[in-house]
Amino acid sequence: MAFTIAIDGPAAAGKGTVGRRLAAHFGFAHLDTGLLYRATGRRMLDGEGPVEAAQSLRPGDLDAPGLRTPEVGQAASRAAALPEVRQALVDFQRAFAARAGGAVLDGRDIGTVICPEADVKLYVTATDEVRAARRLAELTASGHDIGYDEVLADLRQRDARDSARAAAPLKPAEDAVRLDTSKLTIEEAVAAAIAEVERVQRG
Ligand code: CDP
Ligand code: CDP
Repeated sequence: MAFTIAIDGPAAAGKGTVGRRLAAHFGFAHLDTGLLYRATGRRMLDGEGPVEAAQSLRPGDLDAPGLRTPEVGQAASRAAALPEVRQALVDFQRAFAARAGGAVLDGRDIGTVICPEADVKLYVTATDEVRAARRLAELTASGHDIGYDEVLADLRQRDARDSARAAAPLKPAEDAVRLDTSKLTIEEAVAAAIAEVERVQRG
């Protein structure tokens, strides 16, 4: 039977890390839906129209190098405000969520728009400063020459745009369980998420 876990929250809150680990723990598939928007943004930066790019995404586009940069993230966030772009990506995400073996999807609108009937909804947050420090460490480790202030500004600008847009804005679903990871290690955050899933599975 399909079991769906929806994870939403602002940039670099730990959605992907928690989602990946939850999926591994329960044997579910995991989809980082931000990659769909980043792949669209990547192709926009290469000169393609955003709607055309979103409508013709191929699986290989999600593995393209350089998708994690702030420049691509900003392009993704601009593309993500367009209703036609979001519409082009809905069917793929819903089909993924409905797969028989169980699925974890993380993004901004999973619990509100893509999977409003998800079995578990988590809204993962952390302070701006913690998120910026974590994203800086990631970018530095992968060889990017970027500073803390620039990373913090990027996250705040995207969060503001993602929250203010009319189409599927970033916000917690009413029935989402909030998980503030500011003071949690990855292991602690994952343990809290597993506990919530098990609570739901017990009924
Ligand atoms: O998917 P999202 O952008 O929300 O965040 P992420 O890519 O999962 O996490 C951003 C960074 O924070 C990663 O390098 C994680 O290893 C790290 N992280 C952490 O240090 N502590 C946590 N409790 C969660 C994530
Ligand atoms: O990893 P991080 O949290 O920094 O960003 P991401 O999850 O890769 O998402 C990149 C951008 O895609 C976000 O800033 C949003 O504008 C957009 N996005 C969205 O609108 N809806 C989703 N379900 C996922 C991402």
